[in-house]
Amino acid sequence: MVPGVLSIGVVGLGVMGQRMLARLAGHARLRVTRVWDENPAVLAQALAHYPLLRAAASAEALIQEPGLHGLYIATPPGPHIALTEQAFDAGLVVLCEKPLTTDFEAARACIERIERERQRAAVNYSLASSTGLAQLQLAFGAGSRRPLGALHGVSIELRFAAWPRPWQSGAGAWLSQRAEGGFSREVLSHFVFVLQRVLGPAQVVRSRVDYPADGVGSEQAVEAELVAGGVTVSISASVGGDRADDNRMLWRASEGEIELRDWFGVTQQRQGERVQSMGDAETLRMNGMTDQLSHWSAMLDGHSHSLPGFAEALAVQKTIEAVLAGKA
Ligand SMILES: NC(=O)c1ccc[n+]([C@@H]2O[C@H](COP(=O)([O-])OP(=O)(O)OC[C@H]3O[C@@H](n4cnc5c(N)ncnc54)[C@H](O)[C@@H]3O)[C@@H](O)[C@H]2O)c1
Repeated sequence: MVPGVLSIGVVGLGVMGQRMLARLAGHARLRVTRVWDENPAVLAQALAHYPLLRAAASAEALIQEPGLHGLYIATPPGPHIALTEQAFDAGLVVLCEKPLTTDFEAARACIERIERERQRAAVNYSLASSTGLAQLQLAFGAGSRRPLGALHGVSIELRFAAWPRPWQSGAGAWLSQRAEGGFSREVLSHFVFVLQRVLGPAQVVRSRVDYPADGVGSEQAVEAELVAGGVTVSISASVGGDRADDNRMLWRASEGEIELRDWFGVTQQRQGERVQSMGDAETLRMNGMTDQLSHWSAMLDGHSHSLPGFAEALAVQKTIEAVLAGKA
């Protein structure tokens, strides 16, 4: 039997919502049927670009639309949990953008509901479906035969020429404000997700965060040390300077190392061997995106999948908020 079309409603059509619309265009099973954005100009622009899409009258109306299977939430973090709860009330499966929330209490109640009612929900940490994460699991995850020996340390380095990055310049003001935005929640969280998926929960040992003096703007630099699975994790991230954007996560072990670079790029080196690339970053990114959509379909079908659940995403967010809180 040919599996049927899975009908998706999308709330939030800003930078990320539009990226997802493009990613889903032409997908064999996942089909966006209804969209909504509270900004009429943004909604009109999406409809002009995708004439087959139909707008709902509100987020509530979209969620109540008959025939929908799932909701994809790409608003800023504030409405994530409330929209998720409404989607569950309507029997929908939820894929929500990260960061899950900054309201931990609401998130905890939502996670209790997911467990109690066996609701299906995931958070879009795109590295969940990456070759890099798979390699790290093989080398250092639970049950690994440790082909690279004992893990000695992990470092995460992030550089941003400007924040927000140029491709996000159309995003709302929230992205550059410390209440909901900033590079730690936006970018560092992806690498903390990878860290915690492989090694389990991380604790903040110390963290120094530089904020602009205006009391509103998001962080400009973070220097932190964490510990996860008994291993020291160093974080160094900053905005500005004359370097181009760069991200790098290095896992150093007794007999080799694995480096994630430029999101999906991954290289591995075993003692005495040449550095081996697992493929160029763009090809690995495309493969990761295809896998992600397969896992999303599997979740909608009620099958097992490897997308991060809400509890895993909240654990990431707790670590990020602890980093942002600072610790001497
Ligand atoms: N997974 C990733 O790689 C990735 C990348 C970029 C952004 N994100 C995440 O995606 C989310 C959106 O980010 P963005 O860059 O697209 O932001 P954005 O500001 O460009 O877009 C957000 C859109 O949501 C709309 N909106 C806000 N509240 C709404 C509501 N209650 N109902 C309907 N529409 C509402 C706004 O009008 C806006 O158009 C954020 O949580 C962000 O962290 C994830």
